[in-house]
Amino acid sequence: MSASSTPDTAAKPALKPMLAALAGETRSRPPFWLMRQAGRYLPEYRELRAKAGSFLDLCYNPDFAVEVTLQPLRRYGMDAAILFSDILVVPHALGQPLAYLEGEGPKLDPIRSAAELSRLSRDRFHQTLEPVYETVRRLTTAIPANASPDTTLIGFAGAPWTIACYMVEGGGSKEYAHVKRWAYGDPAGFARLIDLLVEVTADYLCAQIEAGAEVVQLFDSWAGVLPIGPFRRWVIEPTRRIVALVKARHPDTPIIGFPRGAGHAYQDYVADSGVDAVGLDTTVSPLWAARNLQTRLPVQGNLDPILLATGGKALCEGAAEILEAFCDRPYVFNLGHGVIQTTPPEHVGALADQIRRWPERG
Ligand code: CP3
Repeated sequence: MSASSTPDTAAKPALKPMLAALAGETRSRPPFWLMRQAGRYLPEYRELRAKAGSFLDLCYNPDFAVEVTLQPLRRYGMDAAILFSDILVVPHALGQPLAYLEGEGPKLDPIRSAAELSRLSRDRFHQTLEPVYETVRRLTTAIPANASPDTTLIGFAGAPWTIACYMVEGGGSKEYAHVKRWAYGDPAGFARLIDLLVEVTADYLCAQIEAGAEVVQLFDSWAGVLPIGPFRRWVIEPTRRIVALVKARHPDTPIIGFPRGAGHAYQDYVADSGVDAVGLDTTVSPLWAARNLQTRLPVQGNLDPILLATGGKALCEGAAEILEAFCDRPYVFNLGHGVIQTTPPEHVGALADQIRRWPERG
């Protein structure tokens, strides 16, 4: 970033493909990465995971976390790497006990009322998350050394609503009845939890950016369980506040929002949250999104992860339909949700080849 002595003649370095798309450029071959591109579908992940012990040990060990982040890049050369961690390290760093049980997913000691918020503390927040920041710092050199210098590094966090879902339910849930009853029955008390999450999440994302993340994504996996009024209050509004807080410190870092399951409310989210790009889930019609969302900002998505697990002609046709719908405007290819565990690794290779060959017509 030195001041250039020849401002008019010095060529501006071209942005990396992912950053160019997020800056509003239409790329003839769209950049791509996949949510959960690192994980159990890869044999090398399972091997390292067995060595690491618990899943949290993997997330908090920079040697392991760097290696796992690089694994999919070595195989498939995605345009972006996503930091290997989990959204639930945030409640964990606030002092909420967390464990990942084999076959059952994450379990937390639930917090179900404003009175119980006193169990949380910010005192050790950054100290607990320091290994995550160290992972990001190391990735800034490990990625160009092991993959391509054009690969963009993505940091991430869960959005407050989704984190609150896990904190209040104590894990995954079908109905999200506890968290909804708290939000509907005691909105002022619930707002205290959301306000805390807004502040620490903005801080956490800024720390990742300061460590070297070039883009950040906010995962709101359970945005789709709320009716429109509460959606505005607990999804759009906290996201808007986080975006404002992060932009105040890092105005040039693109923020991708992923309000999974938002349906028609995707339009309100795009209009009001302030995100730079929006991740689309599997249920969103690509043609509708191209007309109604992509005209306002770059979109990312939205191949069904089950098509990736299926492979063959179905995968090829599904990917082509999405590429065709989105290729005329700024776009990042991705899935509509994370890679599932039973996905054959060679299907990911076939998809990567298809995207790289794009545009091939006829
Ligand atoms: O490659 C990447 O995408 C980066 C790493 C990443 C993980 N989780 C690793 C992980 C990211 C970005 C996440 C986000 C995440 N975590 C979300 C948001 C996206 C989504 O899927 O909706 C959510 C809701 C979580 C919470 C979470 N973590 C659940 C529900 C589970 C259990 C389900 C499962 O697949 O086991 C996890 C565990 C988890 N996070 C694993 C991985 C690779 C599996 C853990 C293992 O190896 O045993």
